Amino acid sequence: MSQGKYIGVLTSGGDAPGMNAAIRAVVRTGIYHGNTLFGINRGYQGMIEGDIEQLNRYSVSNIIKDGGTCLQTARSNEFLTKEGREKAFKNIKRFGIDSIIVIGGDGSFRGLHQLIQEFPIQGIGLPGTIDNDLYGTDFTIGFDTAVNTALEAIDKIRDTASSHSRLFIIEVMGRTSGYIALYTGIGGGAEDILIPEAPMDMQKLTAKLNAQHKAGKKSSIIVITEGEAAGGALEIKSNIEKVIDWDIKVSVLGHVQRGGDPSAFDRVLASRLGYESVLAVMNNENDKMVGMVNNIATLTPLEDTWTKKKDMDMTYLKMNEVLAAQQEKALEVIA
Ligand code: F6P
Repeated sequence: MSQGKYIGVLTSGGDAPGMNAAIRAVVRTGIYHGNTLFGINRGYQGMIEGDIEQLNRYSVSNIIKDGGTCLQTARSNEFLTKEGREKAFKNIKRFGIDSIIVIGGDGSFRGLHQLIQEFPIQGIGLPGTIDNDLYGTDFTIGFDTAVNTALEAIDKIRDTASSHSRLFIIEVMGRTSGYIALYTGIGGGAEDILIPEAPMDMQKLTAKLNAQHKAGKKSSIIVITEGEAAGGALEIKSNIEKVIDWDIKVSVLGHVQRGGDPSAFDRVLASRLGYESVLAVMNNENDKMVGMVNNIATLTPLEDTWTKKKDMDMTYLKMNEVLAAQQEKALEVIA
C-alpha cells in the first residue's frame, strides 16, 4: 500500500443524505494511514476555481449525522469542456493532489473518467445518489434515507386519501430509475407502482382502477417515477380522469427526498465505502468505483457503472401486484 498520498475529496451532482458520513470516512481513513487530505468545495466547479482546502480529522467532526454535504456540490457545465477540465487539473496540481475521490452519481463518474483519460490523475468513485441507479453496488448512499422520507409522506397522504375517498398519484424522484418508486410503493402499500423498468399499459391501469372504484374501494395510492414514459403525475392524472369518475389528486414530493438526516443504513454504507475508497487509492487502483455487492466491497470500472444496467428484481413488482390484488379480491366479494 502506498502511503503519503495527497488525496482530494469532493461531492458532485445532486446531494444525497450520507455524503457527509462518506466525507468523514475518507478524511479520517486517509489521515490515519498517513496521507494528506484536501476538501474540494462545490464539486468540479470548485476544482476549476481552486476552491480547495486542507482538512484534518477535526474538520469532519459531528457531520456524520447531517444531511446535505459540507463540501457543497454543483453540476458544472464548465467541467464538460476540455478547457474546464484542464483548469481543474492545474488547480489540483497546485496543491500537490495526486488522487481524487469523487462522491456522486453517473454524471460525476463520467466527468472523473474523462479527466483520468486526459490527465495524469488517479481517481476513485463513491456511489452517492438517491437514485440507486449505478451498476456495481447494491445500494447507493442516500437511497435508503430518500425512501424513508418519501414513505413518511406517503403514509401521511394515505390518511387524507382515505378520509376523502380519493385516488392519489404520488410522483417520486429517481430520474429514469424506478428504485425509489418501487421501494416506497411497496413500503407504503401502494395499489400500483409505475416505473420506467416495467412500462405500464395505461388502458390496463385505468380498467383496473375503474374496477376498484366500482367495487367500492375508498382510496388508492399510485406511486410513479418522475421519468416514467407515460408522463409525470399530472399528465397521468389528466389521462386517467377522462375515463374514471374518481376524485384524483397529485402530489409531487420533489427535493424534500434529498434532504434530512441520513438513516443508520446510509451512515454505515457511507462509512464503509469511504473507508474502502481510501484503501483503493492506496492500493493504486484507478478509474474505478467502490461499491457493496452482496455485502462485499467491490471495485467496478467507472465506465461500467453507467454503461451496464443494474438488474432490478422484478419479483418485487409482481409481489406488489399480488398484495394489492388480494385487497381487490376481498372487495369484489363484498361487492
Ligand atoms: O440524481 C438525483 C436527483 O435527485 C434525481 O432524482 C432528480 O431527477 C435530479 O437529481 C434533480 O436534479 P436537480 O436537483 O439538479 O434539479
